[in-house]
Amino acid sequence: METMKFVHLTDTHMNAPGKDGLLAKFNLADKVKMTFRHLQETGVAPEFVVITGDLAHEGDAEDYAYIRTLLDEGSALIGAPVYVVLGNHDHRPAFRSGFLGELPTEEPYYYAHDIQGLRLIGLNSQIPGKHNGRIDEEQLAWLKAQLETPAPKGTIIALHHPLMGVIGMPGDHLMENRDEILKAISGTDVVGVLAGHVHSNNVGVQQGILNVAATGTAFSGEMADKEHYRMVDFSGYNVVTVNEEGLAVQTVVLPTSNAEYFRFPIAALAAQH
Ligand SMILES: [Fe+2]
Ligand SMILES: [Fe+2]
Repeated sequence: METMKFVHLTDTHMNAPGKDGLLAKFNLADKVKMTFRHLQETGVAPEFVVITGDLAHEGDAEDYAYIRTLLDEGSALIGAPVYVVLGNHDHRPAFRSGFLGELPTEEPYYYAHDIQGLRLIGLNSQIPGKHNGRIDEEQLAWLKAQLETPAPKGTIIALHHPLMGVIGMPGDHLMENRDEILKAISGTDVVGVLAGHVHSNNVGVQQGILNVAATGTAFSGEMADKEHYRMVDFSGYNVVTVNEEGLAVQTVVLPTSNAEYFRFPIAALAAQH
């Protein structure tokens, strides 16, 4: 099998320039521009880029139109398509109209793409108005039907909420029905599950499948002390390699300051993240 390489970004939390809001003042779209420049300058040459949600930070259609333009420019710069999934800070109607140019409906956004024999499945784990995630019945049935036929190079699942438990994250912050999802993908051709949401680098194996929850492209989160959590200016991306030996993930750290953006009590984590 020929080696295939792609890039996993997550949690870009972008807004259009000049917007008000908790995170808008940090101009986090600049991090995404920096990421694409870094990819181009270092010659990574991925086959594609996938972004696992929280594309916008409580964005409206204008934000998503801006994000679309920015990602199209990034895609042109590195000569690779960009695929996205939705996170808890995304809004389906604004995404559908601003990003996809479709009617602003609450229709979940999920898909399967064949990329030179590798199947990329993007799932919609975002539930309108909630922080935690769930793959609904219809989507789960669709996923099972997709996986009945293996892909030549296997399947990568991209979704926002990780399937594995992550230290420091309250259980109600993660995937509600992860057991059901794990059951659906176990024994299939799924080789990796890529997620975000937690804004820190986490790697695990569940039922023989590699699970990765990557740090945020916009910022990272970490414990500041026993009672506080903080968001810091730390960004990175993962380069994922797939070949007959399996899957390899390289974390690339971008040149950021590590300075604290803000901190808050752990108890408020669900409201802030
Ligand atoms: Fe996030
Ligand atoms: Fe999130």
